[in-house]
Amino acid sequence: MTLNRQTIITLALAAVATAAHAAQPTPPYLDDTKTIEERVEDALGRMTLDEKIAMIHAQSKFSTPGCPRLGIPEIWMSDGPHGVRMEFTWDEWTHAGWTNDSCTAMPALTCLAATFNPELAGRYGNVVGEEARFRNKDIILGPGVNIYRTPLSGRNFEYMGEDPLLASRMVVPYIKSLQSNGVAACMKHFALNNQEHDRDNVNVTVDERALNELYLPAFRAGVIDGGVWSVMGSYNKYKGTYCTHNDTLVNQILKKEWGFDGAFITDWGSAHDTREAALNGLDIEMGSWTNGLTWGKSNAYNEYYMAEPLKALVRSGEISEEAVNEKVRRVLRLCYRTNMNRHRPWGSMHTTEHTAAALEVAREGIVLLKNDKSFLPLRTGRKLAVIGENAVKCLTIGGGSSELKPKVEISPLEGLRKRFGEENILFSLGYASGEPNYSNELPSPYDADSLMTAAIETAKLADAVVFIGGLNKNYRQDCEGEDRATYSLPFGQGELIARLSEVNPNIAVVIVSGNAVAMPWAEKAHAIVQSWYLGSMGGEALADILSGDINPSGKLPFSIPFRLEDCAAHSFGETAYPGVNGNVNYEEGLLVGYRWHDTRGIKARYPFGHGLSYTTFAYSDLRTDRRQYAPTDTITVTVRLRNSGKAAGAETVQFYAAQKNPRLPRPAKELKAFSKIRLEPGESRDVEVRIPVANLAYYNDTLRRWVVDADEFAIHAGSSSTDLRGKASFKISESSLAAR
Ligand code: GLC
Repeated sequence: MTLNRQTIITLALAAVATAAHAAQPTPPYLDDTKTIEERVEDALGRMTLDEKIAMIHAQSKFSTPGCPRLGIPEIWMSDGPHGVRMEFTWDEWTHAGWTNDSCTAMPALTCLAATFNPELAGRYGNVVGEEARFRNKDIILGPGVNIYRTPLSGRNFEYMGEDPLLASRMVVPYIKSLQSNGVAACMKHFALNNQEHDRDNVNVTVDERALNELYLPAFRAGVIDGGVWSVMGSYNKYKGTYCTHNDTLVNQILKKEWGFDGAFITDWGSAHDTREAALNGLDIEMGSWTNGLTWGKSNAYNEYYMAEPLKALVRSGEISEEAVNEKVRRVLRLCYRTNMNRHRPWGSMHTTEHTAAALEVAREGIVLLKNDKSFLPLRTGRKLAVIGENAVKCLTIGGGSSELKPKVEISPLEGLRKRFGEENILFSLGYASGEPNYSNELPSPYDADSLMTAAIETAKLADAVVFIGGLNKNYRQDCEGEDRATYSLPFGQGELIARLSEVNPNIAVVIVSGNAVAMPWAEKAHAIVQSWYLGSMGGEALADILSGDINPSGKLPFSIPFRLEDCAAHSFGETAYPGVNGNVNYEEGLLVGYRWHDTRGIKARYPFGHGLSYTTFAYSDLRTDRRQYAPTDTITVTVRLRNSGKAAGAETVQFYAAQKNPRLPRPAKELKAFSKIRLEPGESRDVEVRIPVANLAYYNDTLRRWVVDADEFAIHAGSSSTDLRGKASFKISESSLAAR
């Protein structure tokens, strides 16, 4: 083949250009042989003020623009925390209607917490990370770790219960595994988001001890132990200043004391002031002029607090450009950990591993609360009446920003029919709610009396009844944006359960919820199961438990009081909940959940850490390795556990510490360790945990330091916070300031 003159010249010029280009050194910001910090500084030095300002606020509902001129990619975010949310249109709270954005829906985080299994938390985080990576998301907006303070809070289902140690132990593996995929977790909502009522405005007053000993530890663990790459501010205020740009919380605690080096992001619409945003640690502004759920101003991006208004303050000299540079550094650092990391994995969707993880978390999270006469597991070959809307209702939609579009969602009815045989399962809806909605309760399309009559007739025809009800993701149920209106079961379920038990006393009740509910009907049910929003594999997992194919091992991550008034947050009037004139005061201080019930002697119907099994476990020989410890020591606690029943099963042994003569008031006891182990019938094993003496510290709000008192302590081993099976005492030889 002969080449004409022009072609030869063109090829020659291309060769020269290529050689010239190759000869140019790769700029540090694009050179992944350089350190992240070198690359951050080089990129920052090349950016104009306009480019810096653009990088620290949204360009669309769920993205920021990066720096196109330098080839620094956009950052794309998606909700979690239970899976990767469906796609939205650019600028509206509207689903985009794509057909490739279904996900593996994991169980809600309360279910994960109820497993008391940190290894499962790691598997969980990896599912979300792999699917987020495959969907080209750089930040997953989760996990949530706010403490469960009231059973009315609309978002408890997205969080990990009432105890800071449990939440801390479960959030770290979730974060690490998710981020191993090159996707940032975004721990939320920092801080004190413990109710949805008036969330955009409520100003929280809480004493320093409760703040440090209850509400911050899980966030601290996520930063220091989990290495989380981003954190989301909450909507509410603390000490009169919005948490999203709050000097105490963000600059002093999160960034200075804990050393958080990631990006601090608003909740959607949680920024309210340019100067505070500029100076109090906010790094990325999203969703301004929106309520984070249903409405928002379109194309408002130049009006964002950290857009033109901030640029004007920098140009006027009132705000230094260095304040902007610090934000951009954190955004760039997040980029180099995610979308500028050419070696990050590629992700995957709907794998068998993802499905298996969803099933495993659901199975291990279901809690058997009551099982009189060994009513469960259900024997096969009998006619079962399955009654209740939660046997069939899609529970992955609704609830707010944690809504999902699952590729699969096996309902309890489907799971039970598959396990027990279609011919053995009767079904009646029993009650009905309307479609999920974020601003009001939509009416059910059915007549309640007719539904109840039909259900009662169905119950008469069966050997046993399985009622599957609870809450759902509708407005003022387990739903973001507002709290529950009542502690009772909605939609007439309480009466229905009573009426069903009259015509068929062989009844088990399955509550599907993310919160405790009133159970005045409890004595009418032989068995009660606390189930959760179980995600894609929920129906199969529930059938596995009810049939006995899987032995339940879940433990309650929160207390279930008899009455709402028995709950700490509801014992001090409206100022303590839901607040008065925009102020809520956490009057109970440290005494939240079992800390309240145990210290005040108010019995809960079912206590924190409670969960039965189809087998039994015997505890013996609880001991510590020494009788006395110095402040820098670690205590080794051992207890003998034996499976004293007839079925293999797993038990979560809980270790609670109690100080004998505390210098400052402390709860009666506090969870300091837990360990879940599986034993065959008759098998025995020593369960050993190691508790650093520093973990026995309390926060002294006068010294503003953590302190361990020289004192006598007891360590209890328990199957729940009240079912204590052994006690060992020891002394701490001298008081000390604990290094925390
Ligand atoms: C919502 C939620 C937050 C979510 C964000 C984006 O209002 O409070 O958890 O990640 O907006 O949807």
